[in-house]
Amino acid sequence: MVKKICGIGAGYVGGPTMAVIALKCPSIEVAVVDISHSRISAWNSDKLPIYEPGLEQVIQQCRGKNLHFSTDVEKHVYEADIIFVNVNTPTKTSGLGAGKAADLTYWESAARVIADVSRSNKIVVEKSTVPVRTAEVIEKILVHNSNGKIKYQILSNPEFLSEGTAMQDLLNPDRVLLGGNDSLEGQEAIQKLKDIYAHWVPQDRIITTNLWSAELSKLADNAFLAQRISSINAMSALCEATGADVSQVSCVLSKNTKLGSKYLNASVGFGGSCFQKDILNLVYICESNGLFEVANYWKEVVKVNDYQKSRFVKKVVTSMFNTVSGKKIAVLGFSFKKDTSDTRKTPAIDVCKGLLADNACLSIYDPRVSEEQIRRDLSMNESHWDHSIQAKSTSFTSAKQVSVFADVYEATKDAHGICVLTEWDEFKTIDYHKVFDSMVKPAFVFDGRNVLDVDKLREIGFIAYSIGKPLNQWVNC
Ligand code: NAD
Ligand code: UDX
Repeated sequence: MVKKICGIGAGYVGGPTMAVIALKCPSIEVAVVDISHSRISAWNSDKLPIYEPGLEQVIQQCRGKNLHFSTDVEKHVYEADIIFVNVNTPTKTSGLGAGKAADLTYWESAARVIADVSRSNKIVVEKSTVPVRTAEVIEKILVHNSNGKIKYQILSNPEFLSEGTAMQDLLNPDRVLLGGNDSLEGQEAIQKLKDIYAHWVPQDRIITTNLWSAELSKLADNAFLAQRISSINAMSALCEATGADVSQVSCVLSKNTKLGSKYLNASVGFGGSCFQKDILNLVYICESNGLFEVANYWKEVVKVNDYQKSRFVKKVVTSMFNTVSGKKIAVLGFSFKKDTSDTRKTPAIDVCKGLLADNACLSIYDPRVSEEQIRRDLSMNESHWDHSIQAKSTSFTSAKQVSVFADVYEATKDAHGICVLTEWDEFKTIDYHKVFDSMVKPAFVFDGRNVLDVDKLREIGFIAYSIGKPLNQWVNC
């Protein structure tokens, strides 16, 4: 009988995932541990470290009952029957595989703690996204660092939640993937994990595979999703060149039952901590296996994404008479998608940096991202974005060219142009007449998320651009 679970890593995955297990399994004690004191104290406070719709209610319901947040990693690992490892696995920034391979430093340090403090048999669950065959490495660390009396079963249970909808994804997952080995002990461990999920997930949504298929499926899943976005974004450039409308093309594709309707929204580019990192990791694994053609195929997905971001910047600059120098550009939205405060790999960083390079003055508004975070992101070396701990120590920009506002009308006042970089719902209901009246003319809008009604904006008097749509005569190719 599983009495206690420990989740190592209290981030975007560890916090919500462990909270939902606590909610659905009231008889199990769940401890979420992290080496970051500030993160843990935030989880124990009224201001949680991450914003996710519905998360606060679950935390309030379970925290202090069967859900605990702590920095005492050793104690909770020692007491647990099952340990979920939810630590970050960013792209390596130096050494072998730098810029592509996954950095398993955090995973390895978690495994060493497990080996050091365990005095009873443990099931160790990989929740983090890891390179295929990581379980083999982890097993070696555990076995070679314990006295031989303790038995470890390593399972792969990759997480498929999306930020912004994490709680509904966790409460009602389309699938739960469990990978384990064929041995009797391996199958028993899988059964124990299955029993936990069976508290709320229907049996037919729980898929079991071997370890390597589970690990690789997670990378493949993200690569396929990102590939669809790059495909529609590549199409958006062709639409602009030919007078076709990418929304109409998406609509036609979405009615093809062989394709389905999701991940067909053209945008300024995909962001988030997962897609680019996991594709680059896949590229590295392919190259390590001598599969260079396969590696090159996946590399293109990231290249098209970079192209889409720089194409957007170019569109802004060329449309505004080939210079944005000294012009105020209002940036609406900074998070990588709506309903999250996460800015890791947000396309807004690249777009803002591109505009700053042309000496624009940016006035940024995001309903959930703090000024401190925006300034840190704009000053940070790209390679540090997902190394959350080191990132804290990075100084942040005080660039005079950047202002951050808590009000959309303040941000857009006296601006020459507006760039919409996140699809926050509130941007659809702004009073654009009022905004237009307060702007320098001609007033430009560049909708990087295709959320605005550009026909209405044009009626008001804006020169409006949206991704992959027939161009306003003023907007240059
Ligand atoms: P994150 O950076 O938000 O959280 C990771 C946490 O682990 C940090 O708080 C860090 O302090 C902690 N940590 C690192 N080493 C530790 C150690 N040795 N002991 C204790 N704590 C330690 O990362 P995340 O976004 O939650 O992602 C975690 C993993 O899940 C990654 O592998 C990621 O690829 C994967 N994943 C993320 C998402 C997502 O939407 N963010 C979705 C699915 C999978
Ligand atoms: C992704 C995967 O969806 C999830 O299964 C995995 O567990 C983690 O990585 P996430 O990055 O949180 O989730 O968000 P997602 O909704 O997939 O969006 C990723 C990026 O793609 C965002 O920047 C989003 O705006 C963009 N996007 C998404 C598009 O540009 N067009 C689309 O049609 C869909």
